[in-house]
Amino acid sequence: MKPMNFTRRRVLVTGASSGLGLEMARQLANRDQADLVLVARRLDRLNELKAELEGSTGIHCQVIAADLSKPQDVDRVFAEASAAGEIYGVILNAGVTHFGKHLDMEWSGFESMLATNVTSVVRLVNLFTPYLISQGREGGIMLVSSMAGLLPLPFQAAYAGTKAFITNFAQSLSEELRGEPVSVTVFSPGGIDTDMTRSSKLNYFENTSLLQDATSCARDGLAAMQSRQVIHVPGRLNRAQLFATRLTPRRLITRIAGVTYRKALKAGEAGQGKTA
Ligand SMILES: NC(=O)c1ccc[n+]([C@@H]2O[C@H](COP(=O)([O-])OP(=O)(O)OC[C@H]3O[C@@H](n4cnc5c(N)ncnc54)[C@H](OP(=O)(O)O)[C@@H]3O)[C@@H](O)[C@H]2O)c1
Repeated sequence: MKPMNFTRRRVLVTGASSGLGLEMARQLANRDQADLVLVARRLDRLNELKAELEGSTGIHCQVIAADLSKPQDVDRVFAEASAAGEIYGVILNAGVTHFGKHLDMEWSGFESMLATNVTSVVRLVNLFTPYLISQGREGGIMLVSSMAGLLPLPFQAAYAGTKAFITNFAQSLSEELRGEPVSVTVFSPGGIDTDMTRSSKLNYFENTSLLQDATSCARDGLAAMQSRQVIHVPGRLNRAQLFATRLTPRRLITRIAGVTYRKALKAGEAGQGKTA
């Protein structure tokens, strides 16, 4: 298959109201003049982005306010997006985490995380993959996972579980779809400087080399999707860390991560985090 070419194509981005999704939407509009379908819960933010991008680039944005933890909203996203025009690329980026002790998370919070990070992603893949194949335009789907899908992550235990699902699901599906006119990419960043890290006790890591800026992370993700990579971890530091973990017993990796995140959690609880 040829590399993807987003120029003047229509691309759907979930979680476009902030962070990585917002940056990917901006780059698709500014660099590729791609028309966009912007999906998230916060309609005001999506409308602001639509006004910004339509005003500066002349592209067209469709806004769909949807809560992806609700099955009916997920199906509506596919129905409304595909009815309004042909889709070429699908970026399933929306996600939530819980930073803290697993047992401190409300059960409803876990259910909502599972529905958003896993069920909605699989449902949208099931709806969009046959659609993209039937269009026959060699489109692509990108699932945003995390390095937490490749390594254990104490104090984000359920989140790491959801991302491990996404990573394995996407890599397996990509092989099943070999020969079909659609590619599946899984994008697995390490920490990114977004609301997810800023507004939680994870802001302990703010202004450290451990967080990648959202603009460069978005650029790396779009490049991976464009070149139809099956899996991509952005950033040399992240890739070096991952390489080092191959030579280290998993027990030790889990312990080191546990010590680091316990410190971050304690700092946050003691009010030493910057915005917690
Ligand atoms: N930040 C990191 O360190 C990091 C690292 C690796 C991977 N990631 C992954 O990157 C992706 C984007 O995260 P981010 O860092 O950009 O975080 P963010 O700034 O908090 O953005 C999360 C996005 O997901 C949307 N979202 C959350 N729950 C939703 C729901 N129920 N329905 C619809 N949309 C929902 C949010 O929009 P609304 O609130 O408006 O609905 C928002 O646009 C996530 O999948 C995350 O797991 C993040």
